[in-house]
Amino acid sequence: MKNTPKTLALLGEDAARFIAKDKKMFIDGAWCPAAGGSVIEVEDPATGQMFDRVPRGLAADVDLAVAAARAAFDEGPWGQMSPAERGKLVWKLGDLVEAHADELAQLEALDNGKPVTDARIGDVAFSYELLRYMAGWSTKITGQTIPLSAEAPFHAYTLREAVGVCGQIVPWNFSFMMAVWKVAPALAAGCTIVLKPAEQTPLTALRFAELVEEAGFPKGVFNVVTGYGHEAGAALAAHPDVDKIAFTGSTEVGRKILDAAQGNLKKVSLELGGKSPMIVFPDADPDVAIPAIGYGIFYNMGQTCTAGTRLYIHKDIAPVILEGLKTFAENMTVGVGLDPATQIGPLVSKEQFDKVLGYIEAGLADGATLLCGGTQVGEEGYFIAPTILTETKPHMSVVCEEIFGPVLSVATFDDDGFEEIVKEANASVYGLAGSVFTRDISRAHQVARKLKAGTIGINTHHVIDPALPFGGFKQSGWGREQGYEAILLYTEVKSVGVAL
Ligand code: NAI
Ligand code: MG
Repeated sequence: MKNTPKTLALLGEDAARFIAKDKKMFIDGAWCPAAGGSVIEVEDPATGQMFDRVPRGLAADVDLAVAAARAAFDEGPWGQMSPAERGKLVWKLGDLVEAHADELAQLEALDNGKPVTDARIGDVAFSYELLRYMAGWSTKITGQTIPLSAEAPFHAYTLREAVGVCGQIVPWNFSFMMAVWKVAPALAAGCTIVLKPAEQTPLTALRFAELVEEAGFPKGVFNVVTGYGHEAGAALAAHPDVDKIAFTGSTEVGRKILDAAQGNLKKVSLELGGKSPMIVFPDADPDVAIPAIGYGIFYNMGQTCTAGTRLYIHKDIAPVILEGLKTFAENMTVGVGLDPATQIGPLVSKEQFDKVLGYIEAGLADGATLLCGGTQVGEEGYFIAPTILTETKPHMSVVCEEIFGPVLSVATFDDDGFEEIVKEANASVYGLAGSVFTRDISRAHQVARKLKAGTIGINTHHVIDPALPFGGFKQSGWGREQGYEAILLYTEVKSVGVAL
């Protein structure tokens, strides 16, 4: 029997019907249990109670899924399909996601803990827009004709072809959206896929697989194996018949993916951790900066790879900004993710909850000052109040390491140029995002050029769009998702020369 935590009562009819089903994996167009027969329990982070279970896929299941994806790529109707037909299927999948948007948002909010309102207008809406954006690329993936310098006359051109079977491993913080970020361009390019969602949040990937089936993709094009990272994930990353592995998650596991990929030198793209700076100059507009910084750090409870975790404020504007941020943080509505009024839900797991509280303790022990938050909220589930630590120093772990929780570290600066503060902002092994708040357009653009990060915001922090390349400098990753750059990740270039 499944447990039924009280939060399940907040689900709509469609989401409740999905939760009541026995969960199976989707391999070769069919639904199946794990070969080994075991399961993983699914937890509600708002209560700590288990409410569902999914198959615990192992290497044998990954083998079946990869074989299905291989056959679908090499022999199935998918490879013969015209770009226009492929694009229509991807567009249809976008329509189906939109038609089931409320249900998907509720499943995500229950499984991950995140605010359902954010899930609906963020994760899910972004996903159907991205599917449509990528559907458009299907018919626009082209090669070039290239004039050669050889003496004999040649006609030469390039073909841009699908890379093949793709393993895609995604994390729990934006489980549905991260899956679609990887699936949409791969389908548009004509690849086949084995997706492994995070063990903490497997549900929306399985619901998505039902929608892929409903859209009418040929069997084997899209497969989902649920399971643990060290089991199913490791088997997928190492699999000799996988042509490309795409991963989002910790930098630590990113390195393991690289090691595992060595066997057949499969293509690798990585979207890893971050420790993104936000810099506020004295001429910034506080009414713009305060909410942008507040959401920059506290959106998704800070469990966001691009979260603005290090705030540098010029001393002349620090009192106003800090007072505003404290009010912002203290006024956020904390509650179960499924309540539409919630702005701060629980962290995803006990592990994450303990890790984040540990960082707060370490920061205080290192001499940081607590401006607000710092503690658990309530007695059950994994809720932590939005936390601001001031007077932080570069060596502190709260400043150097990815916390992945609602914790902002703040330092002030007093030089009137930007060279010094940009240097400090760049002093990180990561380089995913960064932002600058100022009304001086020259300074804004100069700082944008100097920050070593993949995405820069000017008078805003999180800047994402289906058309805008997304990814990291330094140890934040390899490659760019979104936009045409994502199509490049899922294609190979072939040169053809014709002696005339
Ligand atoms: P993780 O990197 O272990 O998990 C991400 C995905 O990788 C999951 O699907 C997991 O099953 C899989 N995985 C784990 N070990 C694997 C292996 N050996 N081979 C193949 N796949 C494997 O992240 P975790 O443990 O959930 O979180 C730890 C920390 O990582 C977080 O506190 C946060 O700092 C960071 N993180 C960063 C994310 C990002 O978006 N950049 C997302 C999730 C976590
Ligand atoms: Mg891990």
